[in-house]
Amino acid sequence: MISIDPAMQEDRDNYKLLIGSVVPRPIALVTTLTEDGVLNAAPFSYFSIISSTPPLLSVSVQRKKGQMKDTARNAIRQRELVIHIVDETNVEAANQAAASLPPGESEVTAAGLTPVDSEAVHVPGLAEAKFRMECVLEHAYELGGTDGEPGCDLLIARVVRFQVAEEIIQGGRIDAKKLAPVSRMAGDYYSTLGQLFSLERPQ
Ligand SMILES: Cc1cc2nc3c(=O)[nH]c(=O)nc-3n(C[C@H](O)[C@H](O)[C@H](O)COP(=O)(O)O)c2cc1C
Repeated sequence: MISIDPAMQEDRDNYKLLIGSVVPRPIALVTTLTEDGVLNAAPFSYFSIISSTPPLLSVSVQRKKGQMKDTARNAIRQRELVIHIVDETNVEAANQAAASLPPGESEVTAAGLTPVDSEAVHVPGLAEAKFRMECVLEHAYELGGTDGEPGCDLLIARVVRFQVAEEIIQGGRIDAKKLAPVSRMAGDYYSTLGQLFSLERPQ
């Protein structure tokens, strides 16, 4: 084994180890509203379930040169966000939504995505996702970083409404093959669902 002390190497090298080993990562396409009511969208793969009772999700938004990204700023100000699962049909648009546009310009329009009204929050969702979760912000934590400056904003979102395309759900269960999620690998790589298999859980 090669032993590596993260404190003894550059941040970039730690980043490469993390994004190359914690794979595949599901991708959240997150919509938020700016103060002026412009719909913002961006993809995030530092994304996971924290709890199912109540339904809580985490999205970690890295700071860029010490600055909060729009998604974190908007979610913290308005305390609402919509999280969409990226799939084979919308991954290219989700990638387009990662472009850095001037403030006030919507990545949604630029990526050719279609806003749809939400039921339980003010932030619209996107019609192109088969599964989206309307969320309120439960907590936001400033974490990490160097020299006393935070390195990321960890958003903890509580789902207040699931919006599920009829064709991917049966008896309350999601059909993974019909959802066809796409996940993030290192670099510019993505992956689709691999081979599925089951294991019986030990007593
Ligand atoms: C597939 C994908 C996954 C990404 N995951 C993250 C992530 O987990 N955290 C992060 O801070 N940025 C991530 N990014 C970069 C952001 O999407 C990008 O910085 C975006 O411009 C942020 O938009 P915003 O300023 O509107 O919030 C990812 C980009 C792509 C294409």
